[in-house]
Amino acid sequence: MVARVIPVDQFDLVIFGATGDLSRRKILPGLYRRWREGQIPEGARIIGAARSEMGQDAFRQMVAEALTEFLPPREIDAAKRDSFLQMLDYVAIDARGDGGWQALADLMREDVVRAFYLSVAPALFGDIAERLHARGIAGRSSRIVVEKPFGKDLATARALNQALAAYFYEDQIYRIDHYLGKETVQNLMAVRFANILFEPLWNAQFVDHVQITVAETVGVDGRGEYYDHSGAMRDMVQNHMMQLLCLIAMEPPHHFEPDAMRDEKLKVIRALDPLDQTDLVRGQYRGAEGDDYLAQSGNPDSVTESFIAMKLHVSNWRWKGTPFYLRTGKRLKARVSEIAITFKEPPHSIFGESKQWRENVLVIRLQPDEGMDLRVMIKEPGPGGMRLKDVALDMSFAEALGNDLDVPDAYERLIMDVIRGNQTLFMRGDEVEAAWAWVDPVIAGWEAREDSPEPYEPGSTGPEGALMLLHRDGRRWREIR
Ligand code: BG6
Repeated sequence: MVARVIPVDQFDLVIFGATGDLSRRKILPGLYRRWREGQIPEGARIIGAARSEMGQDAFRQMVAEALTEFLPPREIDAAKRDSFLQMLDYVAIDARGDGGWQALADLMREDVVRAFYLSVAPALFGDIAERLHARGIAGRSSRIVVEKPFGKDLATARALNQALAAYFYEDQIYRIDHYLGKETVQNLMAVRFANILFEPLWNAQFVDHVQITVAETVGVDGRGEYYDHSGAMRDMVQNHMMQLLCLIAMEPPHHFEPDAMRDEKLKVIRALDPLDQTDLVRGQYRGAEGDDYLAQSGNPDSVTESFIAMKLHVSNWRWKGTPFYLRTGKRLKARVSEIAITFKEPPHSIFGESKQWRENVLVIRLQPDEGMDLRVMIKEPGPGGMRLKDVALDMSFAEALGNDLDVPDAYERLIMDVIRGNQTLFMRGDEVEAAWAWVDPVIAGWEAREDSPEPYEPGSTGPEGALMLLHRDGRRWREIR
């Protein structure tokens, strides 16, 4: 099956931090793929801006190498790659000084979309925004894109919002949470709002509990120092996990449109009860040298969590009484991201008090092997009475939609949405602040207690305490495998 590709308008896209890791790993390969698929019009331009002094040719060479490094060989079409490289320009720029700004201003064209991707440290957002404005490089119709971490608490997030708001309106600001760009995360919305089947059951009357798991096999090696200042709560929960929770718990927006969506997500965050510290478990992987958090973070006294599990309550009419269990961690047994909705028991069993009964569970698998499965009860075949058995109605999206479906990476979709001017999959400033407002007291709580995370084996399913979090409610986590 070939996905339909609608070309975007003419644009000049400036990537600040163009020589950095994210740009080489995700942004530039993503743009190449969109070019190859015919979504980027002839004449569009991508301008790298970074501190290093280099010419256009050297930049093109660097990008060619990045494509080879980060894309599988079958993805590279030499002619397409060469024409892609022709779109690239480069300006050496001093984000906090004067150097390079005039050269950038001279390069920009009139009457095309102007987008500025800030793939730089958040401390530079304000400086760059100010210069773009002062030099007349960004105008009312320009767009500015920023990456996480968007602050490390409410105060810093507010300061970043204010720094951007000084020069840009909210409808020009695109805050990336790459989880929202994932194909299957968007599928959550399709499953919920394009089917009549689930929505009537989607509430506390019928849903026993929800589990959201994002488990990774990788550790923090290579970025331990950065990670140690963040931890799982700031790195994954405040943004990605919170967004998943919102998409599951939100009311149907009246339209799939940016502010309607974001209003509903915001209401979910605001309806979260403050977290009871007994509903929280933090863990840290501790193993042999080379596989040990303390060694990899370079901080032998670290109390930063590489794993977190918690029980949340959304206090509104729809969800009062249904717990949401979240867990995420590094160096776990398998790479799994999934959302599991466990439904309640039928009100009456015509088969008697059968122990064979199992809950109906709808599992939405985000990665790997994206798909959905619904566990339902059927009769076990054969004579011998009515024995019940739970089986999976299992659908792999790859199988259902064709294995060769070329699914764009989250970044590709999001960058194209910036050019189209569609903010639906981007976080609004008040959403980010509300998420921090919920997270801050939780972190303050464990800091005040001076507790240390519970150790867990690398390659395991996390610390013992996380199992207990569900056991004490008479429930079990789904297996991570
Ligand atoms: C990033 C986090 O935002 O998301 C990383 O900083 C994490 O720590 C990554 O590994 C996970 O993203 P994905 O797309 O691999 O699930």
